[in-house]
Amino acid sequence: MVKFFGGKKTIDENSSENQKIVLDMNNIPKHIAIIMDGNGRWAKARNLPRSMGHKAGVESIINIVKECDKIGVKYLTLYAFSTENWKRPKDEVSALMNLIVEYLKRELDEMHRNNVKIKSMGDLTKLPDKCRKALEDAFEKTKDNTGVVLNIALNYGGRDDIIRGVKSLVKDVQEGKLSIDDINEGMFNDYLYTKNIPDPDLIIRPSGEQRLSNFLLWQCAYSEFSYSDINWPDFKPQNLIEAIYDYQNRNRRFGGIK
Ligand code: FPP
Repeated sequence: MVKFFGGKKTIDENSSENQKIVLDMNNIPKHIAIIMDGNGRWAKARNLPRSMGHKAGVESIINIVKECDKIGVKYLTLYAFSTENWKRPKDEVSALMNLIVEYLKRELDEMHRNNVKIKSMGDLTKLPDKCRKALEDAFEKTKDNTGVVLNIALNYGGRDDIIRGVKSLVKDVQEGKLSIDDINEGMFNDYLYTKNIPDPDLIIRPSGEQRLSNFLLWQCAYSEFSYSDINWPDFKPQNLIEAIYDYQNRNRRFGGIK
């Protein structure tokens, strides 16, 4: 039994209803962002170290990237490491950094063949050299790809994103490149890590938690949210399809009326 909170449907994994989900291919969210939560609980439930939960979470990433590519999602943003995650035990932080390196080593060629473009958001200068280098190689290798954009949020925080944007905007005003009257909502995204990326249509957070945890604070103004009780390592392509199906049955009004 998989429970989606706040949605219209409760889907029983054993029911034939699962097979009946038909997505409207004209209404696939252009940008999906995922808070990959529940790795620690997944591991704890199996008496495994937390790092094994993150390792299992990588398998979900691989499957979800493929699914997004298959159904035509244009941008997939994954919250892999927040500005607050440095507070975790040193060995967990280093296990996460190593997993990123291993993931790229293992999957980069296939992602490249599948036309995936790899990007990141967040301050990479604080990451271990090995991890930053692996990411930079991946950006370079996939920079001309035109398929799904896999945007990995690393050392990312929504507040940090906004503060950096404001600082850089003020600098442009001070240097006379921008007038105060030119500042508006539409152009502010150009000062954020999500420059050239549309706001997320759908933000997914599995594992039972229902909060944003400093993710995409500016960009989420009109995002739809999907919460479920599945831990990230158990999150399957079918769960993505269910979340998109639910999204497609919502009434997005952007503050207007329909
Ligand atoms: C949150 O679960 C998960 C994270 C902080 C890390 C997510 C990272 C990965 C899945 C792998 C590395 C990333 C890439 C791109 C290869 P949690 O540990 O807070 O879970 P809990 O709430 O159950 O303790």
